[in-house]
Amino acid sequence: MRMWLSMKQTKLFTVDPERPEIEKIRLAAAIIKKGGLVAFPTETVYGLGADALNADAVLSLFAAKNRPLDNPPIVHVENMSEVYKLTETVPMKAEALIKQFWPGPLTLVFERSKLVPEVTTAGLETIAIRMPKHKVAIALVRESGCPIAAPSANLAGKPSPTTAKHVIEDLNGRIDAIIDGGPTQIGVESTVLDMTVDPPMLLRPGGTTLEALRKAIGAVDLHPFITAEVELPKEKVRSPGMLHKHYAPKAQVILVEGIVPAMMGKIKELTSACWMQGKRVGVLATDETAWAYEADVVKSIGSRRNVDAMAPNLFRLLREFDDQKVDIIIAEGVPADGLGMAVMNRLRKASGYNIIKVP
Ligand code: TXA
Ligand code: MG
Repeated sequence: MRMWLSMKQTKLFTVDPERPEIEKIRLAAAIIKKGGLVAFPTETVYGLGADALNADAVLSLFAAKNRPLDNPPIVHVENMSEVYKLTETVPMKAEALIKQFWPGPLTLVFERSKLVPEVTTAGLETIAIRMPKHKVAIALVRESGCPIAAPSANLAGKPSPTTAKHVIEDLNGRIDAIIDGGPTQIGVESTVLDMTVDPPMLLRPGGTTLEALRKAIGAVDLHPFITAEVELPKEKVRSPGMLHKHYAPKAQVILVEGIVPAMMGKIKELTSACWMQGKRVGVLATDETAWAYEADVVKSIGSRRNVDAMAPNLFRLLREFDDQKVDIIIAEGVPADGLGMAVMNRLRKASGYNIIKVP
């Protein structure tokens, strides 16, 4: 089916992220209530919101993003009574996690109630819900008076947006409004945890670390896709988003993993080989290593001593390499603990599993 998308005049509301001006939030909420599409900041990345209970609005959300209909969005709420309405059961472990991590970057998957339109859950019997922490996101959900379905506000397959500028690049003319609340803090999406199985299963690493989840509830299983270094067979899929192309800049990405000196040697070798082919090369390095590379563009994602601080730079830098028109991005692997697990998962996907391991 081809969905027709008419061009729109996208309105821009600029707000104070700490004390969002209520009149602007109400204008945006009025758009959501009428079935329109509004992009807004959360603490992770910008989301593209629609009334989660309005099937037509959610359909237009998929169309605006070019998103495949089998990949359901996350539903954002601002109070617990909405969670009970949208789900069949809330397991005890979920209650414990909610107490500790909500509002915040943790999405929980539950059995869904009949209230939820099928398109919102892409026909699944489950629903992914989170309560965001960002003041703008919370205010928008509250003023809209409905749960808000919001995938990341990028065109499907592209790196997620961490600024309003990124949203404009991808979606200007395709959506009704953007609320600009400045750059997002965490920089990678929420962690997605399936609570319909016991032990719960991590479906996507993100802003809430695996270490923190295990500390709170004990055992958490890892879906094989999370640590995958190759593309896994389709039967193993549990979260539809796992299947689709993701986070990919226009440039081809090669990820080099291993100990630092070996990685550096390999990246230099690859850079020379790409230059011989007349390609423009970007290297995604770290503070400790960036000085050592000669390439067309070299950028640092941050210090190896603080992986969590790398996350807010990741998607922005991938987009900047495209702005600087490199043909190839050669990226260093980073330690996979804390938010590093999410960063490495995004880099592996961005590379389409084009990964070179060095000793
Ligand atoms: O931080 C975030 O989570 C951001 C902000 C805007 O809140 N949102 C976001 O949404 O990243 P999106 O649509 O880009 O990613 C949603 C992920 C996808 O991987 C999707 O497959 C998964 O959640 N998901 C949604 N519903 C699901 C369900 N019922 N079962 C399993 N996975 C589900
Ligand atoms: Mg996304």
